Amino acid sequence: MSPKESAAIAETAAPGLAPVVIPEYLQKTYWWAYLHPNAVRIFERQWLVNLILWGNFARLRDAALQEMGDVIHGKVLQVACVYGDFTEHLLRRLAPEGQLDVVDVAPIQIKNLQTKLSRPSQVRMLLQDSTELHFEDASHDAVVVFFLLHEQPAQARRKTIAEALRVTKPGGKLIFVDYHKPVASSPWRYLMVPILSTLEPFAMDMWRGEIADWLPAGVPFTKVEKQTYFGGLYQKVVITR
Ligand SMILES: C[S@@+](CC[C@H](N)C(=O)[O-])C[C@H]1O[C@@H](n2cnc3c(N)ncnc32)[C@H](O)[C@@H]1O
Repeated sequence: MSPKESAAIAETAAPGLAPVVIPEYLQKTYWWAYLHPNAVRIFERQWLVNLILWGNFARLRDAALQEMGDVIHGKVLQVACVYGDFTEHLLRRLAPEGQLDVVDVAPIQIKNLQTKLSRPSQVRMLLQDSTELHFEDASHDAVVVFFLLHEQPAQARRKTIAEALRVTKPGGKLIFVDYHKPVASSPWRYLMVPILSTLEPFAMDMWRGEIADWLPAGVPFTKVEKQTYFGGLYQKVVITR
C-alpha cells in the first residue's frame, strides 16, 4: 500500500466496521477545501461561507431547517458537515428529547464539528461515507443534505441520494439544498459557469439534471417538492417518504 493510499484510510467508523476511506473525488478535487488543516482554518468563518453563497447562507439554511419545523422532534440525520452555523442552528431547534446524527467521511471535519457546537451532548458525530451509511432502513425521522450533491461525481451522488432515502422513515422528510440552473435573465447563469467549472467539476450536473431524476427505482415515496432561490441558482428539494 502506498503512503497516499494508507493516508486515505481514515479510521474505523465504529468497532467491527470496515475503515472509512476518503473518496477519490474528495482527495483530488476538494482536498484544499475540506481535508487540509489550513482548509478548516480558512473556511470555518461564517462571513466567508455566506460570501461563497452570495449572501444566501442564512436564507438557505433556514429554508432547509424550517422543513422540519420551529421545534424539531425525533431523530435527525445531517449528511456531511457544513462550515458555519448550519448544525448549530439545527441543534437550537432540536427538542430536548430529539437526537441529531451528523456523518462525514473526513476525520478533520468531524473533529472541527466537535469544537463548534454549544450542546454537543445531543449530537452523535460519526465517521461515515454518505454512499454507504451505517444505519438501519427507516432509522431517521428527517434527513438533511446541504450542498453535498454538487461535490460528488454522478455515481456517488446517486448512492448518496439512495442511502439518504433508505434511512428516512415512511412519512419523514428528506431535504436537499444545492445548486440549480439559474433562469435565463439571471447574471449568475453566466457568471457561475467559469467558477463552478473550474473549482467544482461535478457541480454543473446540478444544472443539467433534477434531483428527482436520480432517485433509486423501487423505493416508494409520496411527494417531491422543489423550490428555487436567488434567480434559480439554488434549490431546495423535499422528498416525503
Ligand atoms: C456538505 S459538503 C459542502 C458544504 C458547504 N459547501 C460548506 O460550506 O461547508 C462538504 C462536506 O462533505 C463531506 N463529504 C464529501 N463527500 C462525502 C461522503 N462521501 N460522505 C460523507 N461526507 C462527505 C466533506 O468531508 C465536507 O465536510
